[in-house]
Amino acid sequence: MVDDLWTRVDDYLCGTLLPPDPVLDAALARSAAAGLPPIAVAPNQGRMLNLLARIHGARRILEIGTLGGYSSIWLARALPPDGRLVTLEYDPRHAEVARENLATAGLDGVVEVRVGAALDTLPGLVGEPFDLVFLDADKENNPAYVQWALRLTRPGSVIVADNVVRAGAVADPGSTSPVVAGIRAMHEMIAAEPRLAATAVQTVGAKGHDGFTLALVLG
Ligand code: SAH
Ligand code: DHB
Ligand code: MG
Repeated sequence: MVDDLWTRVDDYLCGTLLPPDPVLDAALARSAAAGLPPIAVAPNQGRMLNLLARIHGARRILEIGTLGGYSSIWLARALPPDGRLVTLEYDPRHAEVARENLATAGLDGVVEVRVGAALDTLPGLVGEPFDLVFLDADKENNPAYVQWALRLTRPGSVIVADNVVRAGAVADPGSTSPVVAGIRAMHEMIAAEPRLAATAVQTVGAKGHDGFTLALVLG
């Protein structure tokens, strides 16, 4: 099966380029033991987020969709000592596991997990702008999350959205999925938004066929 090939290549890429990382492995193990779904970003994708944040020199990062804090750890590790990551999570059980994982990673002083529906917690974040926003929660609300990201960032900030391909469903004209509708509406909104320059790239790997959207907030 082609997915086995994708997983073998991911194993090769991660095994070659990514140093062993017991802290991240432990975060995934604790998340699995707590019954969280295995939908964190793949290690090579997590590292891509980490590198994007470092290339950008991000000091303040916002994540929507924490799960067990796996992508939060990758992103928070990119921050300077006085940096900050705020991550928004609806499910208190997920947030609790994430807090444990972040403490184990030594990042509890850098990362704040805020519990609640993101649309309820986002208004409390108006203030100092974020340099990078990672959207990875309920995709139905992605258009609203991009609008919030525009309010909470500044020119030069970066917005990344995960899971924008969903095994090709995003391009299926017969799709009735609200997730697909949310992703499409987000892309239409971004395309019509003069303050954003964006692209999207498909990915294959251990997490199947998916993709991410990358947008730059313009001046
Ligand atoms: N970013 C994580 C994966 C996130 S999975 C990683 O890669 O490691 C998506 C998460 O979004 C789940 O934990 C889910 O509970 C959360 N979520 C779903 N709807 C939400 C909402 N309305 N507000 C905040 N979080 C939400
Ligand atoms: C799902 C959500 C994600 O954020 C992800 O990376 C993969 C899958 C999901 O809801 O199925
Ligand atoms: Mg995701």
